[in-house]
Amino acid sequence: MKLSIFDDYADLSYQVARIIYEQVRSKPGSVICLASGDTPLLAYNLFTVLLKHTPVVSPHFTLVGLDEWIGISPENKGSCSYFLHRNIIDPLLLPPEQVRLFNAMTPDPEQECRLMDEFIQSKGGIDLMIVGIGMNGHIGFNEPGVSPGLRSHVIALDETTRTVGQKYFTGAATLTKGITLGLKYLLEAKTAVLFASGEGKAPIVKAALEGEINTGVPASLMRKHPGGRVMLDRRAASLLTPGT
Ligand code: GLP
Repeated sequence: MKLSIFDDYADLSYQVARIIYEQVRSKPGSVICLASGDTPLLAYNLFTVLLKHTPVVSPHFTLVGLDEWIGISPENKGSCSYFLHRNIIDPLLLPPEQVRLFNAMTPDPEQECRLMDEFIQSKGGIDLMIVGIGMNGHIGFNEPGVSPGLRSHVIALDETTRTVGQKYFTGAATLTKGITLGLKYLLEAKTAVLFASGEGKAPIVKAALEGEINTGVPASLMRKHPGGRVMLDRRAASLLTPGT
């Protein structure tokens, strides 16, 4: 794993945007998994600008959504699906065949997990995963204590996730379960980028990078990834021990 620290959110976001762009440019048909959340907003917007203004020969990558709130419809502005449509899919006019998001409204979420796993397998696995870190150290909805061997799965949400997650919704939302790609995908992805911004994330970033490597803090598993990159702005890195 490689750690990089950037001056501020804008610089960090530009570097993440470049990584996504380079992936699309260097391998036609790349499979890219993207998280939602506040952190990636600027990076995705910059990526769409880069792709529009510096077109690549074959922009036909496949976008896989990292996670979704069970029972929240894609029309809800707080859903991961809405976020990815607004910030990536719609600006780039990605056709449906290039996009696979979890259907969190399905009556059979376990079947949805199997379908997602089959889809990813049919594409030859994930080339690039871009993820954030939750306030409890989660990646996607891989909550503390999750098994690291899981692929797509449904999981009960942590109290922290249920509370913090309200920030994405305009009214009170009932958040009980999530559907998510598992940590096995993260560890198998050819490249995995975890990025974080702001001092609010500094304590959990420190725990992930300097504490024990186990799923008590799921993001600590990034340190086992040979193609892993952790990218931070100075504020998110502010509690790290110098020389980490
Ligand atoms: C959310 C999502 C994650 C996201 C993380 C951080 O709950 N499930 O995929 O990366 O928490 O979100 P934010 O960037 O808003 O801090």
